[in-house]
Amino acid sequence: MNILIIGTGYVGLVTGSCFAEMGHHVICLDIDNKKIEDLQNGIIPIFEPGLEEMVKRNVAAGRLSFTTDYKKGIEESLVCFIAVPTPADEDGSCDLTYVISAAKEIGKYMTDYRVIVNKSTVPVGSAAKVKEAIGNAQARPIPFDVVSNPEFLKEGCALADCMKPDRIILGVESKQALIIMKEIYSAFTLNHDRILFMDIPSAEMTKYAANAMLACRISFMNELAGLCEKLGANINDVRIGIGSDHRIGYHFLYAGIGFGGSCFPKDIRALESMGTQSGYSMPILEAIGTVNKRQKKVLGQKITSHFQGSVSGKTIAIWGLSFKPDTDDIREAPALQLIEELLAQGALLRLYDPVSMEKTHAYLKPHPSIHFCENEYDAAQGADAIALVTEWKQFRFVDFEKILKEMQGKAFFDGRNQYKKQEMQAKGFHYYGIGVPSHTPD
Ligand SMILES: NC(=O)c1ccc[n+]([C@@H]2O[C@H](COP(=O)([O-])OP(=O)(O)OC[C@H]3O[C@@H](n4cnc5c(N)ncnc54)[C@H](O)[C@@H]3O)[C@@H](O)[C@H]2O)c1
Repeated sequence: MNILIIGTGYVGLVTGSCFAEMGHHVICLDIDNKKIEDLQNGIIPIFEPGLEEMVKRNVAAGRLSFTTDYKKGIEESLVCFIAVPTPADEDGSCDLTYVISAAKEIGKYMTDYRVIVNKSTVPVGSAAKVKEAIGNAQARPIPFDVVSNPEFLKEGCALADCMKPDRIILGVESKQALIIMKEIYSAFTLNHDRILFMDIPSAEMTKYAANAMLACRISFMNELAGLCEKLGANINDVRIGIGSDHRIGYHFLYAGIGFGGSCFPKDIRALESMGTQSGYSMPILEAIGTVNKRQKKVLGQKITSHFQGSVSGKTIAIWGLSFKPDTDDIREAPALQLIEELLAQGALLRLYDPVSMEKTHAYLKPHPSIHFCENEYDAAQGADAIALVTEWKQFRFVDFEKILKEMQGKAFFDGRNQYKKQEMQAKGFHYYGIGVPSHTPD
């Protein structure tokens, strides 16, 4: 099948590569000239484990190519996937500007029947808007179908998620589009059928419902973690205690320093906004956001209070900058807020992340108090405290004896509960976790 992917970002590039890997002919299109030029020269613009090899393999096989040329892309493809950003507007609602702009281009250049697939996360009712935009942009009426096919991949394991998805949600209205979509995904469902058909509004809603449910678990655990600290309970034990109930399960049940990333924060707000626009209040969603905002401040507050209310002149090492491990994505990453708060108080920062240094460097304005480091040991040099913000695997078994020698202080703030309090204390650290009874200063 000839497929066009519009938007060559975390979703578009991964999806396009996986379709090509399954034998389809894929063109990935973007309006970012530099990105497309880089891809044409074999430079992969994002870090995603295994992606570079997959892209190169499929380019070499002639199944994957890159363009900025809408006319060529649309003319050569039966199916056009839209995978462009859907950021939050100022009022929290989903901004469909990029989606509608892509739809207009499709309408302008299509010469024959096409299936247009919304892969971007879009509010209920968006397929109808896409349909209208395409129709209005056509010079003469040409038949087409719009399908809703929300994406559920997780950055960091996006290839596996895409190649072996838990489910493929398809909101389809026409038989012709249904047959084509089944054909595209047939290679992904050989082991067992993973396709769930439903009406378009339900497919659009499913994506938001999934993200809201996951974010709800995180905020619930974070809220409990705060109470655990006050009452002397340990959230790590409570987690095991409740996760063992199979109705609850262990997944996505960790306390930490709040969720970030490009999806949860904006999707919660967009869903809340759908409620507002429908005259329907959604207090649970509101609470998820409120708890998360509070949680993102928790590590900074612990650090400040350890230093008796001021970190001015203190050197703080930050381990991990991306919003989660195995990605270079720093969008809404908790580390960025912590950096801002500590800088505002006059701290000196030593930052390290295995892959997102370049993106963080580009995001942060040059600042005399920020030093980018070679590795976690370098970051620890002369530090009064270390804050673990992103739980990269390489931080699991560091040589803490060496770390302590590098440091000038002994405080360790574990924003992801990666270490055991007793073990860290035995090694000589003043250890602070999230939702674990706090360290009592000597
Ligand atoms: N990142 C994720 O983990 C993830 C997971 C599931 C769903 N989603 C959803 O998928 C969509 C895309 O997210 P992403 O993270 O891949 O975004 P991204 O920012 O990484 O990539 C989007 C790309 O689209 C391009 N673009 C913007 N307007 C365009 C246009 N009119 N024509 C062609 N290209 C255009 C941008 O230049 C960019 O390269 C969003 O709706 C997001 O909510 C993301």
